[in-house]
Amino acid sequence: MVSDILTPDQLKKVDPVFGQLSFDNHEQIVFCNDKDTGLKAIIGIHNTVLGPALGGTRMWQYANEWEALNDVLRLSRGMTYKSAITGLNLGGGKAVIIGDAKTQKTPELMRRFGEFVHSLSGKYITAEDVGMETSDMDTVREVTPYVTGISESLGGSGNPSPITAYGVFMGMKAASKYKFGTDDLENKSVLVQGIGHVGESLVEHLTNDGAKVIISDINESRLEAVSSKYGATIYKGSDLYSEPVDIYAPCALGATINNDTINKIQAKVIAGAANNQLANEVVHGKLLQEKGIVYAPDFLINAGGIINVYAELEKYGKAEIMRKTENIYNTTLEILNNAEKNSVTTLDAALTIAKNRIAERKNKNS
Ligand SMILES: NC(=O)c1ccc[n+]([C@@H]2O[C@H](COP(=O)([O-])OP(=O)(O)OC[C@H]3O[C@@H](n4cnc5c(N)ncnc54)[C@H](O)[C@@H]3O)[C@@H](O)[C@H]2O)c1
Repeated sequence: MVSDILTPDQLKKVDPVFGQLSFDNHEQIVFCNDKDTGLKAIIGIHNTVLGPALGGTRMWQYANEWEALNDVLRLSRGMTYKSAITGLNLGGGKAVIIGDAKTQKTPELMRRFGEFVHSLSGKYITAEDVGMETSDMDTVREVTPYVTGISESLGGSGNPSPITAYGVFMGMKAASKYKFGTDDLENKSVLVQGIGHVGESLVEHLTNDGAKVIISDINESRLEAVSSKYGATIYKGSDLYSEPVDIYAPCALGATINNDTINKIQAKVIAGAANNQLANEVVHGKLLQEKGIVYAPDFLINAGGIINVYAELEKYGKAEIMRKTENIYNTTLEILNNAEKNSVTTLDAALTIAKNRIAERKNKNS
């Protein structure tokens, strides 16, 4: 039922354009190239049945263009289901800019990217993702209204990461309730991989709840800073996935649950912010189910950020943002129970609800 996600190598073997468009029926892919600013970006529009395709822009040093394309296809698809399951009237889209955000990101490049977004007349609305800051969205706003996640001083909703972290925390609590019979995380060991914008905020919630937090990151200075701020333990071992923890929270990049890691994972619950945590949804989703590891689907529990930026379009306030984000707890519990009842993976259970909502709207529209 779930269409599989292709790896960059598999992508190379299909037809270069429509072969990829149809890998999960993406509506449109836009390649953006600008010699003057060095911009090389791809905008992926997966599905617009429920509304305009909203999703962040990631700037990353991809090994090659196939990897960038693969990422934008996976990420934009995830946005469709994230908004659908969260009950938002938004489609799924995402953009990637190929390059090093630390050294190659300039205001000129961001404005040029904004002009490409503008050329789509609102079919795609951007926001921030890895490698982006609120100030970058403010720069994009100079050339297009089709951007969210801009500064509060400019009428925006500001940095979405704390709300994303709160939603992840809600999803993690629900998964703990399901697996351990209690959503109290006191004395539960939680390994947070990636303590960036979302990860750090998650560490704060976990610490306040009395969890034993272990942190891992490739950025040594952040590790020291977050450890001394919250008293979290820095992971010093050489095989992160074998660490015997109760909960693993992937909050860095995707695909960390893959052929190399799946048999090592000791955690009983996986609940984190990273998009596309399963390298292969079908294979790894099934293996987690067989191993009795409870996987809280990423696109479900990391929806706090999109709920936050959607407020800019729908003009609802903080109270409604918090209400919608807290509801991730109920939805997660419902999906975990549904998965058990129907003997399907938790990912399948979540995708079924999301896809049904899109199909219903499509029928209504036609
Ligand atoms: N920011 C949001 O609101 C939001 C919303 C939904 C999903 N997400 C997803 O959550 C994840 C984290 O987002 P963020 O905004 O915190 O990004 P970020 O760039 O602020 O943080 C990512 C952190 O991961 C670390 N990292 C990178 N590779 C690593 C590795 N191999 N091992 C350990 N750490 C590593 C980085 O050093 C950084 O500290 C991303 O996958 C993002 O797509 C974020």
